Amino acid sequence: MADSGQAGGMGRVGVVGGGLMGSGIAEVCARAGRDVVVVESSAPAADAAGARIEKSVRRAAERGKLDDPDAVLARVRVTTDLDALADRELVIEAIIEAEDAKVELFAQLDKIVGPDTILASNTSSIPIMKLAVATQRPQQVLGIHFFNPVPVLKLVELVPSLMTSEETTARSRAFVEQGLGKQAILCQDRAGFVVNALLIPFILSAIRMMESGFATAEDIDHGLVLGAAHPQGPLALADLIGLDTTKAVAESLYEEFKEPLYAPPPLLQRMVSAGLLGRKTGRGFYTYA
Ligand code: NAI
Repeated sequence: MADSGQAGGMGRVGVVGGGLMGSGIAEVCARAGRDVVVVESSAPAADAAGARIEKSVRRAAERGKLDDPDAVLARVRVTTDLDALADRELVIEAIIEAEDAKVELFAQLDKIVGPDTILASNTSSIPIMKLAVATQRPQQVLGIHFFNPVPVLKLVELVPSLMTSEETTARSRAFVEQGLGKQAILCQDRAGFVVNALLIPFILSAIRMMESGFATAEDIDHGLVLGAAHPQGPLALADLIGLDTTKAVAESLYEEFKEPLYAPPPLLQRMVSAGLLGRKTGRGFYTYA
């Protein structure tokens, strides 16, 4: 098929999984003029993904961030049929963070898409190599790791595995930078990439500081906001990320590097067991109305 002629190429994009991240990725691709097919696992999940994308696009229009929400939405199709990805130039996987499910999906996608298609994963912790070797095209598999909320945060971590070709990385960089207007950084295929490998031990240190009685949650957060110009303190940030997610990322870092600084402290473990997951459950280090 003809080249899209758009800056950054890849006019036809597929997104598998239309949850929090997948719907955001679909939205930014459609806003960048791409034709987007989103594949979900069931009809109710597809409906929810479509509604999530529509709500976010309309809200962006209301805030004056885009002119023609109907045109953006017309570029997005949500389906439960994986075969609808057959003509895509790039497929970005954003399903649940479960290695077996992702490996199986990559093996399926490899058979469905054309030979030039790039297969990317938005995974936060699963080695890209495990997904690459599930396919017959490991040179065209890489991580393209977006940040939440996708329409707002500018960063994308590009994660080539040992087997990813330079051409795949270059095409992906052109797509995210010239196509989507994001800023890419290059990371090795190691747990945490750059941002989480630095951020998570910082948050864990704050939790240990609070747990030991060294300072209160409020004082720790005020310290970093007022003394280091952070937009929010580490404990408020943990509440935003979700304490379950924070713990899961810490565990994957600990599993990879076996360094004590990555080990989830007991307070974090107990809070997750108690269901105190932060903003999403109304209570974490702080209480939310
Ligand atoms: P989510 O739970 O909101 O969305 C996952 C979606 O995938 C659900 O809608 C589910 O129905 C769908 N799904 C599950 N299996 C499927 C399959 N086989 N085929 C099609 N759809 C399927 O999860 P979220 O937060 O969007 O995370 C998705 C991925 O993005 C994970 O790999 C996660 O590690 C990564 N990530 C998450 C970030 C976050 O802040 N939540 C940040 C960066 C990456």
